[in-house]
Amino acid sequence: MVKATVIGAAGGIGQPLSLLLKQSTLITDLALYDVVNAPGVAADISHINTPAVVNGYLPKDDGLAKALKNADIVVIPAGVPRKPGMTRDDLFNINAGIVRDIAVGIAEHSPKAFVLVISNPVNSTVPIVAEVLKKKGVFDPKRLFGVTTLDIVRASTFISEAAGKPTESLKYKIPVIGGHSGVTIVPLISQSQPSIDVSQEKIEQLTNRIQFGGDEVVKAKDGAGSATLSMAYAGARFAIAVLEAASGKKLETTEQAYVHLSADSNGAKEVTSVIGNDTPYFSVPLELGPNGVEKILPLGKVNEYEQGLIKKAVADLGGNISKGVAFIESSK
Ligand code: NAD
Ligand code: LMR
Repeated sequence: MVKATVIGAAGGIGQPLSLLLKQSTLITDLALYDVVNAPGVAADISHINTPAVVNGYLPKDDGLAKALKNADIVVIPAGVPRKPGMTRDDLFNINAGIVRDIAVGIAEHSPKAFVLVISNPVNSTVPIVAEVLKKKGVFDPKRLFGVTTLDIVRASTFISEAAGKPTESLKYKIPVIGGHSGVTIVPLISQSQPSIDVSQEKIEQLTNRIQFGGDEVVKAKDGAGSATLSMAYAGARFAIAVLEAASGKKLETTEQAYVHLSADSNGAKEVTSVIGNDTPYFSVPLELGPNGVEKILPLGKVNEYEQGLIKKAVADLGGNISKGVAFIESSK
């Protein structure tokens, strides 16, 4: 029996993400929570003949507590998205409080759940959740993930296109490490499998496109929000990978996510030998298992250009992380 909870389930990401989770036969109980319209979304999705029993919850009648109670996995796409001209950090003032309150609910009602944070700015919202869980004495770094899968999905798509093989994008695996905004996103294109043979100039263009892929969608949506459908795909892919690993299945694909490096201090040693000791959080390749992070995997060989990208990412992440930590320190 597996209970999955989506917080922000009536939103642009929340609705298609809930739909994709309903397609998974691993889930038997799907709880959809939002401050608006969650019962409507739940009623609609509940007519699909897959195993999950679907319930929708609003804040009234202790809805958050009921949605979270005994959840095995909580996926959080709650909060506001960007408009053109905004950075993800511009969302901090609204989303930090939303994510903090959800984290309090998780600490009280589902402290053992895998927690997948989608709400931006991920570089700061993950430390916010961690600090709340620490305060409540239930923080387990193996179970908390900032979802960076969309960067990995984009890298596969853009690089297979550049290789002239757009219909083979599923085959292309490119590690994307760091954080989830602008220069904190670090694609390791030199490790692309299959490899691509393009000029350094093209590598730099591709790197920039992966780092700023979110802006492409924000601009195209022209004020109507940011990526929702591709994010739902990416979020469902990662959530299902976590659940499959939890059920004992050996995964064929290595997933990456933004985690606290104490999730595997042994594995983190190789990572810090490459990135240094200035950031406690980083998106890294993971081996997932029954308890979440089983191992932090090596970053592999990083070339000089990528080393430069890592340096910039680490410098930016520091401020993003301390902003999240300070927010909880100053919260009553
Ligand atoms: P949206 O506005 O369409 O949906 C957000 C939903 O959250 C709404 O339904 C809203 O009612 C709900 N919500 C607001 N406050 C809430 C609360 N306190 N509790 C529960 N639900 C609440 O936005 P969206 O396009 O779905 O994006 C959601 C978030 O995901 C944004 O912060 C966006 O930047 C982020 N995002 C992250 C990634 C990533 O790669 N990690 C990708 C895309 C978007
Ligand atoms: C993305 O990468 O698409 C998301 O983080 C949304 C955004 O604001 O760009």
